[in-house]
Amino acid sequence: MENKNLFKKVTHLIKNSKKVMVLTGAGISTESGIPDFRSPGKGLWENMDPMEALSTRVLFNYPEKFYSVGFKILSSMRNAEPNEAHYILSEMEKEGIIFGVITQNIDNLHQKAGSKNVYEVHGNTRVGSCINCGRKVSFEVLEEKVNKKQIPPRCDKCGGLLRPDVVLFGDPMPYVFDLAVKEVRTSDLLIVIGSSLVVSPVNFLPDLVDHLIIINATETPYDYKADVVMRERASYALRGIWEIIKS
Ligand code: APR
Repeated sequence: MENKNLFKKVTHLIKNSKKVMVLTGAGISTESGIPDFRSPGKGLWENMDPMEALSTRVLFNYPEKFYSVGFKILSSMRNAEPNEAHYILSEMEKEGIIFGVITQNIDNLHQKAGSKNVYEVHGNTRVGSCINCGRKVSFEVLEEKVNKKQIPPRCDKCGGLLRPDVVLFGDPMPYVFDLAVKEVRTSDLLIVIGSSLVVSPVNFLPDLVDHLIIINATETPYDYKADVVMRERASYALRGIWEIIKS
């Protein structure tokens, strides 16, 4: 199906859906300058093992390693700005076209772009906590301690190990994932944008809806199930969809 028909089919599906949820992955933030994880040739996991970089095993057993490798990935995301794709999703939410955004991203760009109903199923890089007493600290406090070479960073109250509130490999899924599952179950359309859909349990979400649209630069294991697959950049696809819906 050439492009024009794809856009028509997508906008038709959106207009005929009572409730639309969006699921985003790292691919929506590459146009903000944040590398994704699995893009061939440039994804972060090309030259490092995620289990070595962002896992609880390394955090708890080799905290120095965690804070010298994995933590850098987290702090590198913090000064990125939303791109057009994030802003369009925020407009779509304001106009009631989509109910909310489930994101695997921890870059806070959906919120920075004005999205309100955001389900951060892999945590965030705004807050950290002490694994001993549970005290919350801002991510800036973590960064400060790491920059002052206090590695691993310790809780000022009890001396326990501080960690970012990001869902690491080895962590249980946060409660917000259960909320996201509930919202998808009561939706009739899920639009996936910029995710390889290879990491579970988030990649089970497309199984829960009757209609699925995938906007992704490369193939995903769910392309077979999608009503429409747009092999396009997120900003280009969303701009085209939004223009038709607004006209
Ligand atoms: N527009 C559309 N798609 C894009 C763009 C773009 N501008 N840039 C990259 N992509 C696609 C890539 O082709 C890739 O298939 O986005 C996808 C990103 O996939 P991943 O890098 O695997 O990211 P994601 O799916 O979010 O990873 C899930 O894995 O490492 C863990 O916890 C981490 O949340 C992450 C999870």
